[in-house]
Amino acid sequence: SRCVVAVDGPSGSGKSTVSRRLATGLGARYLDTGAMYRAVTWAVLRSGVDLHDAAAVAKVAAEIDLAVGTDPAAPTFDVDGTCVDVAIRGNEVTGAVSAVAAVAEVRRLLVDRQRALVEAADRIVIEGRDIGTVVAPDADLKVYLTASAAERARRRSAENAADVAATAADLARRDQHDTTRAVDPLAQASDAVELDSTALGIDEVVATIREQLLA
Ligand code: CDP
Repeated sequence: SRCVVAVDGPSGSGKSTVSRRLATGLGARYLDTGAMYRAVTWAVLRSGVDLHDAAAVAKVAAEIDLAVGTDPAAPTFDVDGTCVDVAIRGNEVTGAVSAVAAVAEVRRLLVDRQRALVEAADRIVIEGRDIGTVVAPDADLKVYLTASAAERARRRSAENAADVAATAADLARRDQHDTTRAVDPLAQASDAVELDSTALGIDEVVATIREQLLA
């Protein structure tokens, strides 16, 4: 039967790992919406337009061919035929993505794409910041995944082999940026199940979500 699971939460809360593993277990598609904002950001940086010129940024977003792969075993992102899977995790993109994601026209374009991908899938786990509130308000299950700021910085710095303090500062900056813009994509859906993963392993989080799906 059709099943849409929305997973929202801040950076380093474990969204991607949990969502991918959940999708694999459910035989579902997997969509990382953050990677879509990152791919557009990669294209904006490549184009050389001013990050703060909203019209120019929106034009880049509208003109690129963004191909999205939703297999949880191998999620892929291509911009105009170039695989950007590695580049979109780099510091340059990470430093610019919040500004690009704040452009209303970029959000409109990507939310449309995301809704179409949800529509086309029979089962899908979709993760991001505004999934339960904007992209898939009718999801069968909405999860809001959190973890303490210290634990989120620890996880993210381990992933990137980066300094914990610098990572903590970057996460705080993006959380702040992501929560204070006009359209707040970090707002929590009132019907989301909140799950604090600070002291939980990935498998425990996935198991808890699966129990919620059966409930
Ligand atoms: O890697 P991390 O979990 O920190 O973030 P991400 O999920 O890759 O998303 C990168 C950025 O894209 C976030 O900091 C947000 O600014 C933006 N984003 C958004 O605005 N809406 C979404 N649905 C997903 C991401």
